[in-house]
Formats: sequence, C-alpha cells, structure tokens
Amino acid sequence: MHLYCIFILLCVLFCDLHKCKASTSNDSQSYFTEASESALSEDGRLNFTELAIKYGQFVEQYDVTTEDGYILTIFHVAKDLNTPNKPILLFHGIIDSSDTFLIRGNNSWVVNMGEAGYGVWVGNNRGNLYGRRHITLNPDTDQEFWDYSLHEIGYYDLAATIDFVREKAKCDSILTVGHSQGTSAHFVLTSLRPEYNDKISLFIALAPVAYLNYLEPPVSIAAGAGPIITMLLRSLNINELLRNHSVATDLVTSLCTNSVLSYLRCGFGTLFPFAGFDPAGLEEEFLTGVVFGHYPRTTSRKSLEHYNQIALRRQFAQYDYGFFMNLINYGRIYPPEYDLTAVTAKIALFVGSADGVSKVKDVVRLGNTLPNVVHFEVMELERWNHVDFVWGKDIMSEYLYPTVLELLKTYE
Ligand SMILES: *[C@@H]1O[C@H](CO)[C@@H](O)[C@H](O)[C@H]1NC(C)=O
Ligand SMILES: *[C@@H]1O[C@H](CO)[C@@H](O)[C@H](O)[C@H]1NC(C)=O
Ligand SMILES: *[C@@H]1O[C@H](CO)[C@@H](O)[C@H](O)[C@H]1NC(C)=O
Repeated sequence: MHLYCIFILLCVLFCDLHKCKASTSNDSQSYFTEASESALSEDGRLNFTELAIKYGQFVEQYDVTTEDGYILTIFHVAKDLNTPNKPILLFHGIIDSSDTFLIRGNNSWVVNMGEAGYGVWVGNNRGNLYGRRHITLNPDTDQEFWDYSLHEIGYYDLAATIDFVREKAKCDSILTVGHSQGTSAHFVLTSLRPEYNDKISLFIALAPVAYLNYLEPPVSIAAGAGPIITMLLRSLNINELLRNHSVATDLVTSLCTNSVLSYLRCGFGTLFPFAGFDPAGLEEEFLTGVVFGHYPRTTSRKSLEHYNQIALRRQFAQYDYGFFMNLINYGRIYPPEYDLTAVTAKIALFVGSADGVSKVKDVVRLGNTLPNVVHFEVMELERWNHVDFVWGKDIMSEYLYPTVLELLKTYE
C-alpha cells in the first residue's frame, strides 16, 4: 500500500519540473513523449472535433465566458445541427475533459445521445486543455488562475455553461449529465444558486461524489497522505498539476501507452486500485492506446485538496482555509456545508459496486439527503467501477443507455 503513496508523491514531485524545462529549450519538448504519442492509436491522438467527425457527427464549438473571467470551450454535436433538438449537457470529472464522453467512439455518450436525436453539448471546466484561458489572467504566469476547486467549477463554470446552452437552444430547462466531479459541481451550483434547479429538467449523476466517508484502502490511504503532499506542493508554490508536457504528464504518457507492461503499470498498478477493478470493461488496447492519449488532464492543487478535505473532514463543505482565513472568507471558523436539501432538481443517481471513490454507502446517504431523487441505481454488473460510466466497453450500451434513454424521455 505504501508503494501507492510513494508513487503519488513522486508524480506530484515531478509535476513542476516543466518550469525548468520551459527555461531551457524547446527541443526538450520531451524526447520520450513523441515516441510514446506515436504509440497511441488514432483515437488516442485525435481531438474532440476530429473524433466527432470520424464517428459521423456534425460538430461546432463556442467560447463560454464565466462571471469570473475564465473562457471555456463548449462543443455542440448532433446528427443535424440545424434541427432544434432537445439539448443535453455532458459535464466531465476531475483531471479529465470533454473528450471523455467521446473516446469510446460509436459506443460513447456523445454518439449515442446524438443518434437518439438529442442536441449534445459537452462542457469543459477551467484549467484543462479546452479551458486554459482567462480575460485577464495568464495561466502560465499568474498563480491566481489556479486558485479554484470544485466550488468555482460548479458556481461559475457549470452555471455559465448551462445558461449558454439554454440560450443557444432556446430552452428554459435542459437535461444534464455529470460524471464524478461533474456531479459535485452540480451539487455546489444547485445548493448555492437554487434558481438553477429550475433550469435543469433532469440531472443524471454518474458515480456521484458529495460524501467521501466510506473510502477504503488504497484510496483512504492516499487521502490520509494528502495533507503532507499538499503542504509540500504549497511550500514549492505548485498550484497547477499535470500540465501538458510537464515531466509528470509526459511520464504518464510514456509509461502508460502501448505495451503489456503499460497495462500492468497503469491499468492494474494505478487506475484500477483507485477507480475499481474492471479489466474486462477496460481492455488493454483501449486503455493504453486511447485513454492515456486523453487522460489525465491539467487541474489545480486546490481541486485535489478540496476533495481531500471533504474526505478527511467527513463533510460536503466549502474549502477549508484554516481558522483565521475561514473567519475572513466565511465569517466563521469552519467552512459552511453545502445544503443538499436545497437541491430540488430531479436527479437520477447511478453508482457501481466496484467503484473505489464513489462508494455505494456514500451515495445511499446522498440519495437520502437529496429531496428529489427520481431514480437510484446500483449497477447490476458487479465489476462496474468509477470510469465505466464513461469508458466501459459494451457494458454501457447493454446496461446503462437503455435506462438513461427511458429516463430522458420521461423527464425531458
Ligand atoms: C482539433 O484539431 C484540428 C486539426 O488538427 C484543429 O484545427 C482544431 O483547432 C482542433 N480543435 C481543438 C478544439 O483543439
Ligand atoms: C460507427 O457506426 C457507423 C454506423 O453504424 C458506421 O457506419 C461506422 O463505420 C462506425 N465507425 C467506426 C469507426 O467504427
Ligand atoms: C500539448 O502541447 C503540444 C504542443 O506543445 C500540442 O501540440 C498539443 O496539442 C497539446 N496537447 C494538449 C492535450 O494540450
């Protein structure tokens, strides 16, 4: 178990070496990345737009500007962009991007929702490759750019994205789907800005994350080691994690692509212990050839830290700045909890029993707290893990989409 902690520590330590690289020369643009990028399959290298076109969809992109100045790319995909389709918004999880809903190609959320006749909108949160812009801040030089967590992603990014889609599609309310941190963002937004509950006709929550009380090793051990890692990062003034072509990201790409060893290292050694074991649903070719071309994506130190606090404080509460700064920020010594009873939007909760992060017991508690749960489902397949909701092979079409399409039809 300690090996995992050491591995995480090493990754994190490597994260900021890109600063040294930037100051040396451009050709240091990692000799080993180029080799390993060519080891990816075609779908591992294509971006969102290229993938959408490859799988027979029409796609357009827009910029959404948040109230606090971040500029986010949002994609609109449909079989026919000019027919006014009922809009559905897909919102991804942590260290991820819009690509996650498309990398399964013909078996992906984007293609399936498009084929079902919905206008599919796929959002991005601040910080990732499609959200690395701001009206005044420069992500490369202004550390303030990285001062965000799931709180801002919900309060600002998701809010701006929902309003943009409503306006473009000329709909008062839209359907939404969140995965992992994408669900936390929904809970933040709808608890703090209750008017957004009426803008969502149904929220489909995949691997929901609000309470993290029942984590088990190795995830709980990593959570326990979190504060030390965070302290280290703070002392080194590292606020951006997993930047494109940082040593850590290049290392992931080179260690995780294109071989049986890659699958052992990154599938069995890293992803499965945390997300849950499902080698049958996440086969070698897909994980090492496609997924690690799109994942992990850049995030902030504060994002991980906030989740770490939620787990250790055993409360779905706002970011804990410490005694003194809490007084200044919140007027009280402890951060306020997000009031989940204020979340009145209709919600469908889906959780997998093998999930290492979104535990069934935590989701049951969440379901008992939320006032308007219209569907609660522990996935029938026992090996269903955290990422099967977006990446799972076939199991998606067999076990998830039929129920989802029925729910969408009922509540759209
Ligand atoms: C995707 O790649 C195409 C072609 O390489 C490029 O023109 C486009 O700007 C890229 N799209 C995004 C959103 O990065
Ligand atoms: C995806 O499905 C469509 C329609 O069934 C098919 O024509 C196409 O060849 C498939 N694309 C790939 C890349 O498998
Ligand atoms: C990373 O940076 C390279 C250029 O340095 C660029 O070609 C590539 O698209 C970037 N990838 C991502 C995921 O941002």
